[in-house]
Amino acid sequence: MVDGVEADKVLQEWTESAPYWEKHSATLRTIFAPVTRALTEDAGIVRGQSVLDVAGGAGEPSLTIAERVGPTGSVMCTDAVAEMVEAAEREAHRRGIANVSFRQCMADALPFGDNSFDVVISRLGVMFFPDPVAALREMLRVTKPGGALALAVWQETEQNPFLHVVTEVLSRYVEALLADPDAPGAFRFAEPGKLASILTEAGAIDVRERFLSFHIEAPISIDEFWELRSATSATLRQKLADLPKEQTVQVAREVREAALEFFPNGKMSFPARMIIVTAWKP
Ligand SMILES: C[S@@+](CC[C@H](N)C(=O)[O-])C[C@H]1O[C@@H](n2cnc3c(N)ncnc32)[C@H](O)[C@@H]1O
Repeated sequence: MVDGVEADKVLQEWTESAPYWEKHSATLRTIFAPVTRALTEDAGIVRGQSVLDVAGGAGEPSLTIAERVGPTGSVMCTDAVAEMVEAAEREAHRRGIANVSFRQCMADALPFGDNSFDVVISRLGVMFFPDPVAALREMLRVTKPGGALALAVWQETEQNPFLHVVTEVLSRYVEALLADPDAPGAFRFAEPGKLASILTEAGAIDVRERFLSFHIEAPISIDEFWELRSATSATLRQKLADLPKEQTVQVAREVREAALEFFPNGKMSFPARMIIVTAWKP
C-alpha cells in the first residue's frame, strides 16, 4: 500500500498523460489487441454479458469488449481520471458504440452494488492502484457469484523491449533510481505468482496465471514509435523535460538506433510478454 501523496502523484501523472493516450488510441488499440483477446477468452466473455472494465483509460479494452458482448450485453468503462473517461466517451462516439457507459471512480471505491457484473477486467491497471488488495476485494464485491475476474500486467522489463529499449538509453543520461518493487509502476506485478497470490488473499477462487507471449505490432515508423513512447509515459516525459535540449536529441537518436532491429520492413514488431491472471468469485 502506498501513501496518499504518492497516490495523488500517480493520478496527476495519468491526468497529464490522458491527451496523449487519446491521440494515440488507435495505435494502442492495435498493439494491445492480443492482450484484449487473451482477457476476453480467459474470462469467457460472450454475447449478452455485463462487463466492468476497471482503469479503462482512453476506452480500451472496454470498446472492443462492447462489440463482443453485442447489443444484448453491456460494458461499464471506469477510470480514476476524469480526462481518461472523457477521452473514452469521445472514442465510443467516434466508433458509434452505444452499449457502453462511463464512470469516473477509483478501483478501490467502485460505485456499483454487490454482484452487479458477469465479468470484471483490468488491462495494465492493477499495478498503479495504491492498495491493490483493497481494489481486488472491491472488484470481487461487484462481480456476480460464479463470475470471472481477468487482469493483465507486464512481465519483467528484459522480456519487453518495447519498454526497455527506451529506458536503457535514458539510463545513460539520467540516473535510474532503484525502484521499490511494491511502488506503483509498470513492473510491480512482473514477478510470477505475485498478483495471483494477492487475488487469492482478496477472496477469489480457482486463480490461474499464464504467460502471454505476443508481438507488439503496428504499421508505424520508428519515428512514430518514439513519439508514442515519449508522449504516453509520464516518467519518460518528465525525464526528457529535465534533460538539456541537445541531450534529448541525442536520446532520440540512440533510441532509434537501439530499436531499429524491431522495425523489419519499416513496421514495428517487438516481442512482448505479459501475465494474464484469471479468477472466479465463489
Ligand atoms: C496503463 S493505463 C491502462 C489503460 C487501459 N486499461 C489500457 O489498457 O489501455 C493505466 C490506467 O490506470 C488508471 N488508474 C491509475 N490508478 C487508478 C486507480 N486507483 N483506480 C482506477 N484507475 C486508475 C489510469 O488513469 C490509467 O488510465
